[in-house]
Amino acid sequence: MNGTAPPLLEARGIAKYFGAITALHDVNFHVGRGEVLGVVGDNGAGKSTLMKILSGLYQPSEGELVLDGRPVRFASPKEARRAGIEMVYQDFALAGNMPIYENIYMGREPGIKLGPLTIIDHKKAREMARSHLDNLHINVKSVDQNTEDLSGGQRQAVAIARATAFHAQLVIMDEPTAALAIKEVGKVLDLIRRLKDHGVAVIIISHRMDDIFYCCDRVIALYQGTNFAESPLAATSRNEVIGWIMGTKGHTESLAHDRLQ
Ligand SMILES: Nc1ncnc2c1ncn2[C@@H]1O[C@H](COP(=O)(O)OP(=O)(O)O)[C@@H](O)[C@H]1O
Ligand SMILES: [Mg+2]
Repeated sequence: MNGTAPPLLEARGIAKYFGAITALHDVNFHVGRGEVLGVVGDNGAGKSTLMKILSGLYQPSEGELVLDGRPVRFASPKEARRAGIEMVYQDFALAGNMPIYENIYMGREPGIKLGPLTIIDHKKAREMARSHLDNLHINVKSVDQNTEDLSGGQRQAVAIARATAFHAQLVIMDEPTAALAIKEVGKVLDLIRRLKDHGVAVIIISHRMDDIFYCCDRVIALYQGTNFAESPLAATSRNEVIGWIMGTKGHTESLAHDRLQ
């Protein structure tokens, strides 16, 4: 031991094969407590596959995950969730015809014991939902509103509230702003920063440099299924990161930038 705490989550030598397809090979990275890590890369670079491994949806073909210094294996998203790792999916996966509070606690509702039965304590679930949303500064008129009546940004916020309702240590978001109206993007990015203030680590996949440069502490780039580059945000630039997405480094960065103009 050298006295420094291990990162919250580390991935070592991760590979993922789908039959003959190599989606990931020798991927290494870490995320610290309360750190916001941006993950960038071209379509097909392996970003979503990597996040599905971290969140227990896929198991790695090779390599290991290390949580708080201990090797872990997640056989399912449920196991990852139990360890404090939550994924917010691109389609939010909310039940549109159910109220906000039920979406937040779905399957994990507070209960009242009635002899051998446990029934859902709706009053308590409503109160818990309201207080959790207030904590995160998420504005909704009523926790009884159905999520299908919310804007895209509000639905995204409810999905994030659900992900953080139970002691999440790490929330993974795959393109959280891709489907949002421009005016809603800022609110979701502010929410990510607020999670950080609450000590929650966030991994955000995004193609938008505005997202990355607004809320991340560090950025890593994948290219063709493996690590390509990484940097603290303060030590890189939009042009450089855009270059990484296209698989270029160093002197070619201005060229990369020109091609995107
Ligand atoms: N379930 C799957 N079956 C077969 N190939 C897959 C599967 N999921 C992803 N891939 C392949 O793995 C590679 C990485 O995909 P993905 O992780 O979705 O990339 P990204 O999210 O960076 O766009 C791609 O070549 C993709 O076609
Ligand atoms: Mg993807």
